[in-house]
Amino acid sequence: MHFIVTPSSIGDATLSVPGDKSVSHRALLLGSIAEGRTTVSGFLTGEDCLATLTAMRQLGVTIEQPGPTELSIEGVGVHGLEASIDELDLGNSGTAMRLIAGLLCGQDFGSVLVGDSSLTSRPMGRIIRPLTDMGASILSNDGMPPLRITGNGSLRAIDYELPVASAQVKSAVLLAGLYADGTTSVTEPAVTRDHTERMLGSMGVRVSIDGARISVDAGQRLTGCHVEVPGDLSSATFFILAAVLAENAELVIQNVGINPTRTGVIDILRSMGADIGIENARQLGEEPVAEIRVRSSQLQGTQVDPSLVSLAIDEFPALFVAAAAAAGKTVFSDIGELRVKESDRIGAMASALRALGIRVDESPDGATVHSGQFTGGSVDSHGDHRVAMAMAVAGTVATGEVKISDVDAVDTSFPGFANCLVAVGADISVREDNSS
Ligand code: S3P
Repeated sequence: MHFIVTPSSIGDATLSVPGDKSVSHRALLLGSIAEGRTTVSGFLTGEDCLATLTAMRQLGVTIEQPGPTELSIEGVGVHGLEASIDELDLGNSGTAMRLIAGLLCGQDFGSVLVGDSSLTSRPMGRIIRPLTDMGASILSNDGMPPLRITGNGSLRAIDYELPVASAQVKSAVLLAGLYADGTTSVTEPAVTRDHTERMLGSMGVRVSIDGARISVDAGQRLTGCHVEVPGDLSSATFFILAAVLAENAELVIQNVGINPTRTGVIDILRSMGADIGIENARQLGEEPVAEIRVRSSQLQGTQVDPSLVSLAIDEFPALFVAAAAAAGKTVFSDIGELRVKESDRIGAMASALRALGIRVDESPDGATVHSGQFTGGSVDSHGDHRVAMAMAVAGTVATGEVKISDVDAVDTSFPGFANCLVAVGADISVREDNSS
């Protein structure tokens, strides 16, 4: 499938975006190993979270879907999972594979985890190393999926310094820590999203946080609860971008998660001059949410503060587009992690922007994006949902038609994205590849 976007005028509108992907994954995983029922509302029915849902069912958990975005999970307790007959297919989802691997290391049965071609080329050494230190046995294809895990019912607790800032690795080690023989600690080099810690807390698990060091004691039980999933700020980002770039727009995005470990994108865009307001901030269970009001703005290029990178890790495709529309140049540094996301996002965004007439200078762990006017053109999303959505928004302010190919993966995180963009005034259509 591909998108065709023609120059559009984004107007004034109020909208909401689907549920948070990270929180949805965690609700499934933690609800499955809790005691009693966990109910979930606002669940993201994107393909990534559906892959986790299927995997947990394969591991013996009964999960019902009483409404389109509602789940009812009959928790089996920390030791109640059962071996899956088939391999677990985690599709495109790095979060699913890394967190589920952490959970499965401490079981007394084995599991095989596979994924699509993108996931099969993503680094798993970052979880294999600490989990192996804990006594797990994981065979991989030279540090990449498939992962063959031999469960080990008696893991060792470790005190682990994360070499990369990664919430996925942190979460994998903490989940394995529930099955270890003492206190497992993880120290982060930079703050990463803390949804695992928050949700463990709301299910009654003591998680202690001492600066950058997060610890969990083994042998704790989780109690099922109700999880209300906030709207995903990473999905809202494409609408923040659309409003900022438009000539005269004001968008209000309702009920968006504003967990401070996720809001780097707001700080970066504001530092470039974006008019973004946070209204009616409130708590939704363990997670803070708000309405986000965004108005068209004149952006100015900047040197992006590297300390904000881990707080905006999924937002760089959108930030690259903002940078191209800003006056002057924008310098991104310390963003090497983007090369191992769903695609090499530095490379994919550099070539996508160049295809629309923008100058981008690349380095191994950075990029400089120069100011320019997007022209029409043909863009390859490299099968990456966020590259596809960021470039669709660029298309709304281009001088000609923009074709974005290989966009099926948008459904991994944001089913209904194109319709949502149409609702705020964009001229975007989704076409089969045999049509023009
Ligand atoms: C996620 C963590 C991030 C992010 C991913 C979701 C999570 O990955 O890119 O989309 O839910 O824990 P890293 O923690 O590996 O950077």
